[in-house]
Amino acid sequence: MARANQNYDKLAAGYLFPEIARRARAFADGHPGVELLRLGIGDTTLPLTPTVVAGLCSGAEKLGSAETYTGYGDYEGERWMREAVAAAYRERGVTLDLGEIFVSDGAKSDSANIQSIFAVDSVVAIEDPAYPVYVDSNVMAGRGGPFDPKRQQYQGLLYMPCNEANGFFPDVPARRVDLIYLCSPNNPTGEVATHAQLSRFVEYARAEQAVILFDAAYSAFIRDPTLPHSIYEVPGAKSCAIEMNSFSKSAGFTGVRLGWAVVPKDLVAEECPSGKLNAMWYRRQSTFFNGPSNVVQAGGAAALSLQGRRECRAMVDQYLQNALLIRDGLGRAGLTCFGGKNAPYVWARAPRGLSSWDFFDLLLNEAQVVTTPGSGFGPSGEGYIRLSAFGRRRDTERAVARIRATLEKG
Ligand code: MLT
Repeated sequence: MARANQNYDKLAAGYLFPEIARRARAFADGHPGVELLRLGIGDTTLPLTPTVVAGLCSGAEKLGSAETYTGYGDYEGERWMREAVAAAYRERGVTLDLGEIFVSDGAKSDSANIQSIFAVDSVVAIEDPAYPVYVDSNVMAGRGGPFDPKRQQYQGLLYMPCNEANGFFPDVPARRVDLIYLCSPNNPTGEVATHAQLSRFVEYARAEQAVILFDAAYSAFIRDPTLPHSIYEVPGAKSCAIEMNSFSKSAGFTGVRLGWAVVPKDLVAEECPSGKLNAMWYRRQSTFFNGPSNVVQAGGAAALSLQGRRECRAMVDQYLQNALLIRDGLGRAGLTCFGGKNAPYVWARAPRGLSSWDFFDLLLNEAQVVTTPGSGFGPSGEGYIRLSAFGRRRDTERAVARIRATLEKG
């Protein structure tokens, strides 16, 4: 008889964003005609830029002619696509071999799948709060252990609290761990790790032969020139870190789907000399995946062209203006806010000691604004909500005005 993967039974809750959508739908069904404004999931709303559209069109047109038609591409992404990614890294002083770059359908898939090349009994450390994919994918793989409802934690994972006291960046683990998930600019807090903070983790990982899984999906939002965009800007990181990035938020590809992972050849782990983890990821991807759509890669390469990057930067600037608008508006209404300066998320402390879900419900019912409860990202997110800057400008302004009116009513 077939048996299901019992690790799925250990998952404490459904995936966060469908649960939020379910509550929003229930509200909308019960209040026909009431318009909901959405600052919940980080889903982009601005159209693709002209250069990206031209890239996608030319990719599609090539498929319509016998002379330029292509079928399967390289499993790790077209060479010209990887060259474009490598060129972008070179500008930040990071040299990558093309065999270290694996183009994919997005950082979500990579950040869920990457754990599969590590031992099932690896000890995993995760920032708390964190993008839920890191925790859930490890629970599904059997690393979570039982869920402790009191602490709202899986007993098999090491939670690294990120809170106001530590500036939303954790200290290195006090005990030995094998895998460490870091995300900067951070989803959900919107804060960004400094060079010194990342250096401490690189030092730790090198000393312990641990591997850092670094999610840089929001690096395009960094405007402060002192902040690192890639963990490879820290010397030594290539021997201890895998990096994932995405076109979702930097080029509006949440529906188009494209991203990449860097698995350096220098990366080492226990009984894993240089090159082995890189070869394992190639083996994994070439078995499970035929590479991303060639049309989409043409759009991605266009996004990385000089003109594409100018246009995408202007798009990201618009989202950053939304983030400031949210941060300022909520600050004026008396909320304490974090993030939102070099990131598209604002992290706001709930007023009057409300729980995350209570504040979420208050804003849904009284302001008709959808947010994301901080506790959905981990126990240290309790008492906060996350607001996304990816909405349309006018909707963002209206949502902020509604939240202010609700809070000022008391
Ligand atoms: C988020 O809202 O955290 C993201 O949009 C989810 C994702 O990128 O998968």
